[in-house]
Amino acid sequence: MHDSASAVTDAERTALAVADGPPALRFPYDAAVLVDEPLRTERLVLRPLEASDAADVFEYQRLADVIRYLPWPERDREQAYAHTAKRSAGRVLEADGDFVVLAMVRPGERSVGDEGSRGTSVGRVIGDVMVRVSNAQHAQLEVGWVVHPDFQRRGYASEAAGALVDFAFSMLNPHRVQAFLDARNEASAALCERLGMRREATLLEEEFNDGEWQDTAVYGILRREWAAARA
Ligand SMILES: CC(C)(COP(=O)(O)OP(=O)(O)OC[C@H]1O[C@@H](n2cnc3c(N)ncnc32)[C@H](O)[C@@H]1OP(=O)(O)O)[C@@H](O)C(=O)NCCC(=O)NCCS
Repeated sequence: MHDSASAVTDAERTALAVADGPPALRFPYDAAVLVDEPLRTERLVLRPLEASDAADVFEYQRLADVIRYLPWPERDREQAYAHTAKRSAGRVLEADGDFVVLAMVRPGERSVGDEGSRGTSVGRVIGDVMVRVSNAQHAQLEVGWVVHPDFQRRGYASEAAGALVDFAFSMLNPHRVQAFLDARNEASAALCERLGMRREATLLEEEFNDGEWQDTAVYGILRREWAAARA
């Protein structure tokens, strides 16, 4: 049974949900457009990840601290390069499971792949952000992120993830954007909260990684909440 305050809240929420209308994702979306016209933030360029970014990505993907809460196994260089090639193949968003990974490029920072070359660096990939189609029928997208420890706690993740969420809502029109994290991942949870996302659930023993059952935290933000925060 509801008390009157929560009954009003429920009724208001139902009315707002009705006003939002049915799912209206703007699909298919081809991220190839972001190669020539990347997203830009104050300090970063966000463009689709390329297989040729593998050296920079390996610099963070090989670190135990980075993969601790990611469902990524330890990979040697060859496996990691193949993984980056696979992640860079995602371009078109249309069906459940489709994804696009955007490299967080810091212009002016020397890329690891430039070592030994005299070429002009166009920047280093210091991390990446990802958007994935959780459920096209119900207009649900998922976001994720990873940043090299040398560039953590300096606001780069907030900058890139904020731009990603803005891009997702403004270009793709989801009803909801969500993130799934290892429930112990406090840095990622703090980032979700900085983005205006709400912790909605903790799924107990949802995944078996590294020899143990792990809880998953679910964060979410609705389109109207994002719009109100931007207004
Ligand atoms: C999750 C992850 C991306 C979060 O990155 P982060 O570096 O903590 O996030 P930010 O770059 O936004 O940094 C925030 C911190 O920088 C500070 N900061 C400094 N300058 C800032 C600026 N210009 N803007 C915003 N924050 C700034 C903030 O105050 C904050 O510090 P606090 O934590 O003491 O409050 C990072 O921990 C990571 O890559 N982890 C490994 C991979 C992983 O687990 N990914 C998530 C899987 S779900």
